[in-house]
Amino acid sequence: MSLAGKRILVTAGPTREAIDPVRYISNHSSGKMGYALARAAREAGAEVHLITGPTTLTVPGGVKASSITTTAELARAVTECFGWCDGLIMAAAPADFRPLHDARTKIKRGTDALGLELEPTQDILKGLTKERRQGQVVVGFALETDNAEKNARRKLREKGLDMIVLNVPGEDSGFDTETNRVSLIRPRRKSVVLPVLHKDEVARRIIEQMAQMF
Ligand code: CTP
Repeated sequence: MSLAGKRILVTAGPTREAIDPVRYISNHSSGKMGYALARAAREAGAEVHLITGPTTLTVPGGVKASSITTTAELARAVTECFGWCDGLIMAAAPADFRPLHDARTKIKRGTDALGLELEPTQDILKGLTKERRQGQVVVGFALETDNAEKNARRKLREKGLDMIVLNVPGEDSGFDTETNRVSLIRPRRKSVVLPVLHKDEVARRIIEQMAQMF
């Protein structure tokens, strides 16, 4: 299945929210799934732009990349590029909370407990799908630990997505693993439950599904 002539925007990796100049809040996302998707989309003939949070990975050949650190920066970058793309794959794991106050100087160790006030970051996908063009395909991810399928279907609906890739973290699946166990969920269709596969193969299956959606 080909994506020749299509422009695909992929996001990957975690974001970081500063607590002070030396500390941050983040998550265990390695970026591997998103980078594999960028590679698979390129191999399927698409023009690919990867927006990446901090990772140790190498950008696949032929893929244009830009780097972001915070969820707000990711939101800005994705919003800026959204009009350019025919399809968006939101594989990044943005931090959902950020410190309310970003201390300009290093917080010193004290003897008392330290309280950290957090505020929610914006839901990037939810904002974007409202302004999408006819025919633009939007794919999201869902990381669920309980009531997985039900929660993923709710996210699919609430975020207005064409497909959601459900990820249930486990020993051979999830953060920083080479393999993944996912289900591909589309509105009004039975879920496609994939076996444990290398992330490169999972990426190819996602791209195959996406190519059918144009
Ligand atoms: N996402 C987003 N903006 C955020 C957080 C997540 O656009 N601030 C995207 C992710 O890239 C993913 C999808 O939304 O494609 C679902 O992410 P997930 O973390 O599973 O869901 P949340 O909406 O953050 O909900 P919750 O953490 O409550 O499960």
